[in-house]
Amino acid sequence: MDELRTERLLLRRWRPDDEPAMAAINRHPDVGRYLNRPVDEASVDAFYGLIVGHWETHGFGAWAVEHEGDFVGFAGLAYVPPFLADAGPAPELGWRLDPRKWGMGLATEAATAARDDAFARLELPEVISIIHPLNTRSQRVATKLGLTLDRQIHNPVLGISTDIWRARA
Ligand SMILES: CC(C)(COP(=O)(O)OP(=O)(O)OC[C@H]1O[C@@H](n2cnc3c(N)ncnc32)[C@H](O)[C@@H]1OP(=O)(O)O)[C@@H](O)C(=O)NCCC(=O)NCCS
Repeated sequence: MDELRTERLLLRRWRPDDEPAMAAINRHPDVGRYLNRPVDEASVDAFYGLIVGHWETHGFGAWAVEHEGDFVGFAGLAYVPPFLADAGPAPELGWRLDPRKWGMGLATEAATAARDDAFARLELPEVISIIHPLNTRSQRVATKLGLTLDRQIHNPVLGISTDIWRARA
């Protein structure tokens, strides 16, 4: 499966020209504010290789999202990094968009398609989302997707307790 379509969006596999656009999104201070680890240049540089590598290793991953022909960010699955292993084995459903595209319902629309694909085609029994307790925008997306707050784990990189949200197929 190489793409998913929604009313307004194309979710597709990644192309090399997405890398600079995603790097610009990752560097935006409003984007990095509530992620699971601080954004630095090393993590921005590594991002594209990790996301493409996840697809190659696991056969699924986060989708590149296009709106009106423009790359606008990602939504989809990724296995949790080792420092968040307390979140459990289920893949994380994540979302991250260009701030110029916030407030239009696009994150919810993209993540809904990725969630449905995870449950129907990939037959995953559950997905989680790890959401910073202050990330109210992301909490609203999770709620609209039918995820519910399950528990907290310690994030040793940020030195905080963070929230695990969960949805079952
Ligand atoms: C989290 C993030 C993706 C949410 O983006 P967003 O645009 O606020 O989320 P949505 O696409 O669901 O938009 C929701 C808003 O659009 C509005 N909207 C407009 N048209 C809409 C439509 N057709 N359908 C749904 N909502 C619509 C709604 O009013 C909604 O506001 P509400 O949440 O107050 O109800 C974005 O803030 C982001 O990229 N943050 C940085 C990265 C990040 O933190 N990722 C998550 C880590 S856990």
